[in-house]
Amino acid sequence: MSDSEKKLKVRRVAKIFVSGDSPIEVLRGVDMAVERGVSVSIRGESGSGKTTLLNIIAGLETADSGTVSLNGMDLQSLNEKKLASVRCRQIGMVFQAYHLIPELDVLENVLMAARILGDLSEPNRRRARELLERVGLGGRLHSSPTQLSGGEKQRVALARALMNRPTLILADEPTGNLDEKTAHGVIDLIFEICREENSSLVMVTHNPQYAARTDRQLLLNNGLMTDDIKNPAGN
Ligand SMILES: Nc1ncnc2c1ncn2[C@@H]1O[C@H](COP(=O)(O)OP(=O)(O)OP(=O)(O)O)[C@@H](O)[C@H]1O
Ligand SMILES: [Mg+2]
Repeated sequence: MSDSEKKLKVRRVAKIFVSGDSPIEVLRGVDMAVERGVSVSIRGESGSGKTTLLNIIAGLETADSGTVSLNGMDLQSLNEKKLASVRCRQIGMVFQAYHLIPELDVLENVLMAARILGDLSEPNRRRARELLERVGLGGRLHSSPTQLSGGEKQRVALARALMNRPTLILADEPTGNLDEKTAHGVIDLIFEICREENSSLVMVTHNPQYAARTDRQLLLNNGLMTDDIKNPAGN
């Protein structure tokens, strides 16, 4: 497969939530394509469906209609086991609410995807320690996530997302709970790793300065994705 074929392709993705009596049409046919190595940011009002879209791309939530394909593979067509394997090998996700496992220490959290793939070899353990070093938590390998501050949890979540050298990194407001200095560090690291690994990046952020560092700036509005006209790409 050529590099130009290696991409994330979201086509006509729609999602309706029914809560109470009234259905909420969150996504109404979202189209998006992100080539290998390209970064995009997504803005959109609270409740516009950004997290829902990222969850659908990651296969954590199903779309009512439409398709998501990654590097030519249609994710809907995969069974649960194959989907879990693709998620572990190819997708790194930083969630808005961390989603760390409180029963496991910091190092074991970072090793989660490697564990699922059955590869807790020494090189993998070394990579996990190195990543934790890079996010400034080399001294907290055996802490419980419950003992960490919000910013520290987010940095563990970032190390975990990067562990398996994903081709696609999904980051949902990765700096939402961080002070400015820590936030800059996290963003720098995300871009640095994307460059090193030639990963694609889809990042939800409300910070125009961080959005401006991505190759393309998108806006999710009224259930549809558009190029962000207020902040056109390249500015
Ligand atoms: N499981 C669910 N059941 C019912 N409604 C849901 C569910 N998940 C999300 N929603 C609704 O879908 C809409 C989109 O939610 P989503 O979390 O994707 O928004 P968002 O753009 O990420 O918002 P924020 O910027 O606040 O994080 C919201 O109105 C939310 O209440
Ligand atoms: Mg959200």
